Amino acid sequence: MARQRKRAPEEQRLLEKATRYLPGGTLGNTRFAEEVAFVVKAGNGSKLYDMSGQEYIDYLLGSGPMVLGHAHPAVVTAVREYLERGSTYFTLNEPAIELAEVICQAVPCGEKIRFCSTGSEATFFALRAARTFTKKDKILKFEGGYHGSHDYALMSSSPYVPKDFPRAVPDSAGIPRVLEDQVLIAPFNDLGITSTIIERHQHELGGVIVEPFQRIITPRPGFLQGLREVTERFRIPLIFDEVVTGFRLAWGGAQEYYGVTPDLAAYGKIIGGGYPLSAVVGRADVMEAFNPDRETSGDFIAQTGTLNGNPIAAVAGLATLRELRKEGAYQQLFATGRALREGLTSLLKQHGTAGQVVGEDPLFDVVFTDEPVNDYRGVLTQNRELLRRFNTELLKRGILKGTSKMYLSLAHTAADLEQTLTAVRESLEVMAKG
Ligand SMILES: Cc1ncc(COP(=O)(O)O)c(C=O)c1O
Repeated sequence: MARQRKRAPEEQRLLEKATRYLPGGTLGNTRFAEEVAFVVKAGNGSKLYDMSGQEYIDYLLGSGPMVLGHAHPAVVTAVREYLERGSTYFTLNEPAIELAEVICQAVPCGEKIRFCSTGSEATFFALRAARTFTKKDKILKFEGGYHGSHDYALMSSSPYVPKDFPRAVPDSAGIPRVLEDQVLIAPFNDLGITSTIIERHQHELGGVIVEPFQRIITPRPGFLQGLREVTERFRIPLIFDEVVTGFRLAWGGAQEYYGVTPDLAAYGKIIGGGYPLSAVVGRADVMEAFNPDRETSGDFIAQTGTLNGNPIAAVAGLATLRELRKEGAYQQLFATGRALREGLTSLLKQHGTAGQVVGEDPLFDVVFTDEPVNDYRGVLTQNRELLRRFNTELLKRGILKGTSKMYLSLAHTAADLEQTLTAVRESLEVMAKG
C-alpha cells in the first residue's frame, strides 16, 4: 500500500534548508518528486530510515559502494578500531599498501595501482596515463557510457539528440568547445562501426575507454573480445571503467566475468567500502608514468591528491573485500538478484506492460520498452514518463532505487524481495490506470 506521507517537522525544516542552500536542493543529480522527498537519518543492512522514521528497502545503495548493506558490522568495527590512529597522513600507510596488494592480485590487468578518491578521478587519470603512453591526444568512448563528471567523460553520455558517430555531444555546460574534437564516440556493442572509427583515427587515438557492462547493458558475445583485438592491433591502450563492475560482477571484476583483459582499469565504489577511495590499476609499463622518478623525463604524470590512499577508506575497503572473499558471497549476491529479476519480469508480463528487465544479476533495472536494448539508442526508446512514475510509486511504498538502476547487496533478504515485488505489483496496477 502507498503509505500516508507524514513528514516530521524536523525533516520538513531540513528539506527547506536544503532548498535554501543547495542548488536544486540536492547533493547531485538525484532528486525525488516533492511528495516523496526525504532526508536520510540512518542506514542499516538493506534499509534506510528517514528523519520521520519511515523505512525504505534500499536498492540505491549509496550509488553502489554498499554491496554489504549499510553499517555492516565488519566494516564498522574495522573503521572504529582504526580511527584512534588518525584520519589521513598523505603518506604510505599499512591499509593502503595491503589494499593495493589485494586489488592487484584480484584484477587480471593489475600490476600496479595508483589510488585517488573518486571514480571520476580514476577515469581521468587512466585516460591521462593512456595519452602519456601513446603520446596521442584523442580518446574514444561509447555513446551512453558514463565515466564520471570531468570534461573528457561528459561527452555523449546521455545526449537527447545524438549526433552521427563519431561526433561527440557535450553533456554539460562549461566544457571547453575544443574538447569536443578530442573525444570520438562509438556505438556500444557495434564492433563493426567501432573498429572502423579506431582504424581511421589510429594515428591520433591515445586510448579507448569502455564500461564493459555499460550502465545496465550487457556486452554482446564477442564485442569486448573484438574491442581488445582491434585496440591491440593498433597499440592503443584499452581502459575498462570498472567503477561499477569492480568486485561486483566477480572478484576479478568485469575482466574476469567477461574474460577480457584490458591494459588499464578504473576502480571506485566497492573498494572504498563507502568512503572516498578509487584507483587506476594496470600494466606496469603504462603505470610507470606515475613514478616520481620520471619527474623530469617529460613522460611523467603529475597525480597527487590530499586523500590518496586514505587509511580509513582503505580499512573500510579491506573489510568489505574480506566479506566478498568469503565462500558463497557472489553466489548469494547473484541468486538474490536473479530472484528479483525473475519476479519483475513476470510482473511486467502479467500486467502487459511494455518493458523488460535489463542487466546482470547484481545490477539491473526495468527499461520501459519492447525494443531491443543493446545500446544507448535502445534505452532512448523507453517511455521515460513510465519510468519516472514507476520510481515514484515505488518510493511511496518504501522502495528506493536509482533513476535507472537497482543495485543488490548481500544484506537483501527473501522478505525484502517479497515486499519489493508486492510494491512493484501495486505500482504497475496504479500506472496501468493512467
Ligand atoms: C562507470 C562509472 N564510472 C565513473 C563514475 C564516477 O564515479 P564518482 O561518482 O565516484 O566520481 C561512476 C559513478 O557512478 C560510474 O558509474
